Amino acid sequence: MRSLINILDLSVEEVDKLLDVADDIIANREKYSEVCHGKKLATLFFEPSTRTRLSFEAAMYELGGNVLGFSAAASSSASKGESVADTTRMACCYADIIAMRHPKEGAPFVASKVSSVPVVNAGDGGHNHPTQTLTDLLTIRRKKGRLNNFTIGFCGDLKFGRTVHSLITALARYEGIKIVLISPDELKLPSYIKKDVIKNNGIEYVQTTDLEAVLPELDVLYMTRVQQERFFSEEEYIRLRDSYILTRKKLDKAKEDLIILHPLPRVNEISTDVDDDPRACYFEQALCGKFVRMALIMELLGLHPEEKESK
Ligand code: NCD
Repeated sequence: MRSLINILDLSVEEVDKLLDVADDIIANREKYSEVCHGKKLATLFFEPSTRTRLSFEAAMYELGGNVLGFSAAASSSASKGESVADTTRMACCYADIIAMRHPKEGAPFVASKVSSVPVVNAGDGGHNHPTQTLTDLLTIRRKKGRLNNFTIGFCGDLKFGRTVHSLITALARYEGIKIVLISPDELKLPSYIKKDVIKNNGIEYVQTTDLEAVLPELDVLYMTRVQQERFFSEEEYIRLRDSYILTRKKLDKAKEDLIILHPLPRVNEISTDVDDDPRACYFEQALCGKFVRMALIMELLGLHPEEKESK
C-alpha cells in the first residue's frame, strides 16, 4: 500500500506530475468534483492544526468524498492509552485513506506499517511534513515558473521546523539551488540534514544569523515560526521567539521579484504591514495546499477523472 511519509517517497517525476495535476485542478475545478465519490478520508490529528487539517478536509470534499476523524489526541482513544498502531487499524475499518499528524517523530511511519490503506504524514514532531512541501513547491513553481536555479533563504526555527527539513530535502533534487540558512545559533538546522542532504548532494549553502545582510540575494524567503511546543524551557522560547521580524521597511533591500513564503501560523515573525506587499505569498500558499492535497489523494487512491468518465 502506497503511503507518503517522507517527501523522498515520491520521485522528482512523481512530484512534478502531482504539481501538474494540481495546476490542472486549479484550471478545471469542475472536472474533479466527483473523482472521490463514495471514498472517505480519516484525519487523525494528535496535534493542533488549522491549515493542514482543513485543507485535507476541503480537498476531499472538493473531490466529492467524505471526511471523518478527530482534531486532538484528547478527543481520541489515545487519551485512554491506545497505541498509534491500534488507532490506525481502527481507522482502516472506516476510511479509504488516512492523514495523520502526531507530536512523535515516526508515528505516521509506524501507522503506515500496519495500515491497509494509504497513510499520509501530515507532520510528525520536529521531523517531516511532506504535504507542506508539495504545497511550497507548487507555490514556488506557480510564482517563479520553475523549481531550479534560485536562491532560497530559510529563516527562523530551522532546528524544529519540520517544513524546513522536508522542503530542503525536496529542493536538493533540483539543479542550481542555493540555500541560505538564517537562524540564531540555538536553532540551527540539525547537522544530519546539513550533512546528509545539503553537503552530500553538493548543494551550495551559507549559514548566517543576519537576515538583513542576505535579504538582497534571495529569490525566495521562507519564514518560519519559532516552534514553542518543541522547547524544553519556556524561558529559552521567550528569549528566541522574536529573533527575526520581517517588516515592510526591511524589504526595501530585497529583490522586486522576491517571493515570501511561510507555512503559517505566523506569530510575530512577519509584521502585518508586509501582507499587502506583492511579494507576500503566504496566503496564496495556503490555498495551493488544498489543490496539491487533492492531487495527492487521487494519486494515492489511484483515481483519475478520466477513469470515472470511462466507467
Ligand atoms: C507548520 C507545521 O505544522 O509544521 N504548519 C503547517 O502545517 N502549515 C508550521 C508551524 O506550525 O509553524
